[in-house]
Amino acid sequence: MPLVYVTRRMHFSAGHRLHAESLDEETNRGIYGACNNPLGHGHNYDLEVTVAGEPDPVTGMVMDIKKLKDLIQKEVIDPMDHKFLNVEVPFLTRQVPTAENIVVAIWRVLQDKLSGVTLYRLKLYETERNIVEYYGA
Ligand code: NI
Repeated sequence: MPLVYVTRRMHFSAGHRLHAESLDEETNRGIYGACNNPLGHGHNYDLEVTVAGEPDPVTGMVMDIKKLKDLIQKEVIDPMDHKFLNVEVPFLTRQVPTAENIVVAIWRVLQDKLSGVTLYRLKLYETERNIVEYYGA
């Protein structure tokens, strides 16, 4: 049976501040630069969620992409959109909200909610030029 990869692209806007609590102010400024601004800054994020599976012989679908969209919307976008990621998102608290940490946290959320397909890849665009990918390793 063919293995097919299906991707849904979603969008959210959010604010954050890159600041490691375990480091002093000066070190944080040195590492994160403008991203350490005490009052934060924002991004327009794009998130691509890719699932893998075999098309159902009757429906021809790996997964109903509307259901995938609704799941991402409810579990990821609604909690994160227009929020300050450092404090307002339960599954992101107690870590620096870098794109790397965000994508791993989103993986854990979605992994627990998907059945019948394999979560294959998350790709998070923090800007058009700054992109992280995660395959669950
Ligand atoms: Ni930023």
